[in-house]
Amino acid sequence: MVEFTLPAKSRVQAGRSHPAPAGATNVKTFRIYRFDPDAGGNPRLDTYVVDLDECGPMVLDALIKIKNEIDSTLTFRRSCREGICGSCSMNIAGTNTLACLKPIAEVAGTIDIYPLPHMAVIKDLVVDLNMPYAQLASIEPWMQTQTPPPPDRERLQSPEERVALDGLWECILCFCCQTSCPSYWWNGERFLGPAILLQAARWIEDSRDEFAGERLDALDDPFKLYRCHTILNCTSTCPKGLNPAKAIASIKEKLVERKF
Ligand code: SF4
Ligand code: SF4
Ligand code: FES
Repeated sequence: MVEFTLPAKSRVQAGRSHPAPAGATNVKTFRIYRFDPDAGGNPRLDTYVVDLDECGPMVLDALIKIKNEIDSTLTFRRSCREGICGSCSMNIAGTNTLACLKPIAEVAGTIDIYPLPHMAVIKDLVVDLNMPYAQLASIEPWMQTQTPPPPDRERLQSPEERVALDGLWECILCFCCQTSCPSYWWNGERFLGPAILLQAARWIEDSRDEFAGERLDALDDPFKLYRCHTILNCTSTCPKGLNPAKAIASIKEKLVERKF
């Protein structure tokens, strides 16, 4: 996995320390970014020492334990705990990933946890995702047709047509890829970013959708699509093992093919 430095790190101050509970012998230290823009002040890094003998195996287990037992003010998103909802994405030990899929044992030494990089922080590990969700809406991520559906059944696909969606439908919109992409950092308001472009590819590839041409027209733009410079951070960081860079390349390929 690609590791990258968070530019804000240098401005983050040391914060409060929460020592290990008395008698704990198998402990792990977590250093967690804390920031409440409404309260003012600078971001800080709080330290929590967790008793691993009383904690589940994943980083999310430790965060839930910290919130429940040590510091109820710590704020983060989570829901499914199974790598399905995409809520618990954050930067753990230098890599964007899902806290519920990241084993504590995989990280040697202190575990540093930051919010997804280059996004406005709402509080602690929760970032503002309004922009990527607006970008998702802009690609109209639903099936569009002009022919009427068959009267007696769904619109069917052959096994081969269905297989063409593998590697695309599994995306859980965690935005680990989106927020690891340097092009999105610098041009996030105009470049759609890897997560959204992978979603666009998913609908362009779908044999039942009848608006692939219009979808390609809408993407044929120097910023929306062509700000991808194949840096591949997106593919390296995806916790679901998907390949957004390949999906983006497939869109570019289709745009080239239809010119000849
Ligand atoms: S391959 Fe494209 S989308 Fe992925 S990180 Fe690089 S520039 Fe961003
Ligand atoms: S492609 Fe992977 S990293 Fe990007 S949003 Fe989808 S699941 Fe998350
Ligand atoms: S809590 Fe749902 S993906 Fe982690």
